[in-house]
Parts: sequence; structure tokens; C-alpha cells
Amino acid sequence: MSVLSLQHVNQFFGTDSARVQVLNDVSFDAEPGTLSLIVGPSGSGKSTFLTIAGGLLTPTSGEVLFDGTSYHDTSKHDRDRLRLESIGFVLQAYHLLPT
Ligand SMILES: Nc1ncnc2c1ncn2[C@@H]1O[C@H](COP(=O)(O)OP(=O)(O)OP(=O)(O)O)[C@@H](O)[C@H]1O
Ligand SMILES: [Mg+2]
Repeated sequence: MSVLSLQHVNQFFGTDSARVQVLNDVSFDAEPGTLSLIVGPSGSGKSTFLTIAGGLLTPTSGEVLFDGTSYHDTSKHDRDRLRLESIGFVLQAYHLLPT
């Protein structure tokens, strides 16, 4: 069974004439013990994909499951705990204090 599964994920940003689709029906499965690289040109949606996979962003539609449990069925607190214990997440744009 895959440890991480994205099923038919769509992500839109913006509204009305500024509405853009960044992820279009993306499905992805990561098997335990495997390494996956998400590659593509700048602006193709890699960070959007990763923030959705890490439970930081809820997609416009579609499902994300970790160890068989849908993020829909977990609280924000549960997803925070998942990132503490099971998902290492290094943000592309981190916001550390200059000091
Ligand atoms: N919060 C947001 N609001 C509006 N548009 C956004 C938002 N986040 C990302 N986008 C847009 O979605 C598209 C994909 O962005 P994303 O950051 O996922 O790309 P990327 O593949 O990670 O790019 P890079 O290689 O430069 O890091 C871009 O057009 C970006 O401007
Ligand atoms: Mg990025």
C-alpha cells in the first residue's frame, strides 16, 4: 500500500478572470522505501504539489491520503503532528528572523 497518495487533485488560485489552474487532475502514489523526485519548470506547480502532499494546503478538489487516512478526516492539529513525526518538510521560502 502506498504511504502517500494524491487522488485527482486540482488546485486553482485566484478568482474570476484571474483564476488559474495550477494542478490539473494530479494523481500520485509513493511506495514505502522509494525515492520520488518532482521535477518541472519554474511555475509548473511543484511547491503547490508539495504543500498539498504535506497537508499545509487543502486542494480545491481531490483527496490526499497518508497511510490510508484521508486528510479530510484529520484535524489541522493531526496534520501538524504528522509533519512533526512522519513528514519532513523543508520550505522553499523559509521565514527565519534575521537575527
Ligand atoms: N498562493 C498563490 N496564489 C496565487 N497564485 C499562486 C499561489 N501559489 C502559487 N501560485 C502560482 O501557481 C503557479 C505554480 O507555483 P509553484 O510555486 O507551485 O511553482 P514551482 O513549480 O514550485 O516553481 P519554482 O520552480 O519557481 O519553485 C505559479 O504560476 C504561481 O505564481
Ligand atoms: Mg517551488
